Amino acid sequence: MKPSVLMTDTIFPDTSLEQEVFAEEGIEFTLSPSQDVKTLAESGKSADALLVVYASVGADIIEQLERCKVIVRAGIGYNNVDLEAASRKGIRVANVPDYCQGEVADHTLGIFLALARRICHLNRRVKEGNWNANEGKSAPRLQGKTFGLLGCGAIGQEVAQRAMAFGLEVVAYDPYASPEALSQHGIRKIEDIDQLYREADFLSLHLPLTESTKHIIDRTALSKMKRSAMIINTSRGGLIEENDLYTALVENRIAGAAIDVLETEPPQSTPALFGLDNVIITPHTAFLSQDSVAELRKKASLEVARTLRLGTPAHPVN
Ligand code: NAI
Repeated sequence: MKPSVLMTDTIFPDTSLEQEVFAEEGIEFTLSPSQDVKTLAESGKSADALLVVYASVGADIIEQLERCKVIVRAGIGYNNVDLEAASRKGIRVANVPDYCQGEVADHTLGIFLALARRICHLNRRVKEGNWNANEGKSAPRLQGKTFGLLGCGAIGQEVAQRAMAFGLEVVAYDPYASPEALSQHGIRKIEDIDQLYREADFLSLHLPLTESTKHIIDRTALSKMKRSAMIINTSRGGLIEENDLYTALVENRIAGAAIDVLETEPPQSTPALFGLDNVIITPHTAFLSQDSVAELRKKASLEVARTLRLGTPAHPVN
């Protein structure tokens, strides 16, 4: 019997690329018709592998899988897969860690510059008929300011390189990165997270969302930041307590936020943050480019095939 893979969901226009890889590898492919727990558990029961984009694959689904050997998350973050439940069942979980660092770093700098230089605001005002250069004068000078990274792995380092080109001094808090490794990239390591909050003129998040990092940016963290500080999040929405961010912004306790990710995507109702002029939001698009999407889909499918063939994924995360 041919091994089989269930793709739980997709955001891409079709599944031709996945089907091509799986046909070549002799793997039967099915796309789940819906993402509710009952359907995924039912259709996943007989699958040898799951390929997951944004569907939530929790313990309720994982416990019912009978043949599954690997769950591959098509992406870098894997917070939508319950790692503990998978490990209990002896199921490997893997991600695709290396396909969009450049895109995410470009997007991070893009939304940061748009916010700091007030580009979205000015563009809107000009198109409404207000040609008023004075509205641009509140933009901070970037050169010489401190750009703080919370988390400094693959994407953080790419962001650092770009930020330095704008004359920013880059500092990072990352308990798992050595000062030597960071200084090779021109980044000064900060040992104490509170010092990062106090020093950063701009704070950009590049750490994974886990139980211990959930809402790491809350009222307490925000209260330690400069009133002129801006926050950038292209990592995961759940890292920020959005109500606390909203309050800090309306009370002018920080100056602005540029975000690509929300705690609930797509949002169920219009978040209060959408009404603020000093907030820029994009719909979780940092990873996207024509090239990165093709690379991601191919690598994720090949990771499924590799694990079914050899028993171990190239990029396990559990
Ligand atoms: P990575 O694994 O290379 O780097 C993450 C860094 O965070 C590591 O250096 C790690 O030591 C550090 N870290 C872990 N816990 C920490 C903590 N408590 N405090 C400070 N640092 C901590 O991952 P990479 O490739 O840099 O990606 C980072 C995140 O970006 C991913 O977890 C993912 O959620 C997000 N992402 C978002 C995308 C988008 O389209 N918006 C696309 C791709 C990734």
